Order: sequence, then C-alpha cells, then structure tokens
Amino acid sequence: MTLRDWRKWAEAGQTFAMLTCYDATTAKWLWRGGVSSFLVGDTAAQLILGHDSTLPAKMPFMLELTAAVRRGAPNALIMADMPFGSYQADEAEAVRNAIAFMQDAGADCVKLEVDGSAASLVEKLAQAGVPVVAHIGSRPQQVRVDGGYKAAGRSKRDADVLVDTAQLMIAMGATALLVEAVPDEVSQRIMEKARHPRTGERIPVVGCGAGPGCDGHVVVLQDVLGMSDWQPPFAPPLAQLGQAIQDAASKWCKQVESGQYLAEGGVYRSKD
Ligand code: KIV
Repeated sequence: MTLRDWRKWAEAGQTFAMLTCYDATTAKWLWRGGVSSFLVGDTAAQLILGHDSTLPAKMPFMLELTAAVRRGAPNALIMADMPFGSYQADEAEAVRNAIAFMQDAGADCVKLEVDGSAASLVEKLAQAGVPVVAHIGSRPQQVRVDGGYKAAGRSKRDADVLVDTAQLMIAMGATALLVEAVPDEVSQRIMEKARHPRTGERIPVVGCGAGPGCDGHVVVLQDVLGMSDWQPPFAPPLAQLGQAIQDAASKWCKQVESGQYLAEGGVYRSKD
C-alpha cells in the first residue's frame, strides 16, 4: 500500500480503512484482516503509556513503535505521528525528526498537527522529500491551550478558516490531509478542493470523526476493539476484546489458584 494507491482509490471513490496501531503483533493481525494503512499515533501516550493526553509522547518512543508496526506489517502504508515538541522548536529539527521516521522506522509519511502558521514548515518538509500529512480540525496537542478536547469548524468563521488552511497546506506541498472532529459539511468543502494545484491529482483526505464523505477513515484501535472505557460516537466497538481479556485473565487465575494448571505433570522431562 502506498500513497499512490491512496490517490488512485480517492480518484475512484473507493474509501480506504485505516486504524491506529502501536505494536508489531497487532499490526500483523490487522493486516491479515485487511487493514493496509496504519497510523502510529501519538495517542500511544494515552493507550500504551497511560497518560491523560498525547503530550508526553517523545521521539524515541514514537520511533520504536513505528518501527515495530513496520515489522508487523511490512507492506502496509505506515503514517508516523510527529509528537508534541518534535516540530515546533525549529524547522531544521523538525525536518531531521521527520526524516528519522522514514530512515530509522520505515514510515511512508509523517503527520503533524497544523494551522496556517505551519505553512513554511510543511513546505520545507515537502521540499526535503518527506510526504507530509497535514492534520487539521481538532488538534489534541493543543489540549492545554484549549483547556480540553473539542470539535472544530462548527461556526461559519471557523469552517472557513479550516477550508483555507487545507488549501494552504496543499499549496505548500502536503501529500494528504487528516481532518479530525469537524461537521460533515466542512470535510465536504475541504474534499471538493483537495487537488494538487499543478497536476490536478487528488489529495486524499482522511477523516477521524469528520463525516462519511472522506476518502479514508481512521479511528483509534482500542475504541473499535472495545478496550476503551469510553469511545467517541464515531468509533463504536466492533469487538469486545476488553471483556475477552478480562475473561481469559480470570480463567487463568482460576486454573492456577485451583491447582488445575499442569495438574497432569510438567511439560519438560528430565534427560537423565
Ligand atoms: O494520534 C492519533 O491517534 C491521531 C488520530 C486520533 C487521528 O492523531
């Protein structure tokens, strides 16, 4: 799966499915189930490390996870998420970090949360040969600024700003857009104009709770697996893995505690 496939699918109106993923084993099973695009999201800070926001994710951790997902799904499209602090300080450092995702972790593209002020950075990354996915709409890395999480683009003025930001990012060289938590009409307006300014090629738009019309859809894996205590309404659980893990855990405890486990004897026999 490559960005060229995404463009082809977007042009043909064939929607593609993407999930977040943070480890090799899960990537392998998801790939076997037909998922060919993965986002190694900074939500790993919450789902893997147990933090209450994405802010504590750091570059070395994200590089390790991205490389692991690549090993689990060698032929998938892997989008690496640039964590908070890896691209804000200066552009040269941002380019180096983005390239590390490609060189050291095997990412196909990198995603960063942007508003209009990131135009020059997106241009630099694109010029450096890094496929950039511009994440617009709700931006979880702004949680401390906003004082919480919220949907984006709900007023006419905010929607206009988002549509303009999408256009700006495309003009600066963004390869794809990821639009999070906006009303359907807003993603629709973004989609209508999502074409490369010179070649006219479609710029794929991936939605995360951004309405049905997007070219692709991504949600957090643990939400659809039923492993979250709460999930957003656009990511209903498709399995009950949390419950399944709990049941298996309690069976294991019962087996061991009741003396049933290896009751017939051990597995290994002495050689002499
Ligand atoms: O980090 C992440 O998982 C994300 C998705 C929720 C879009 O950015």
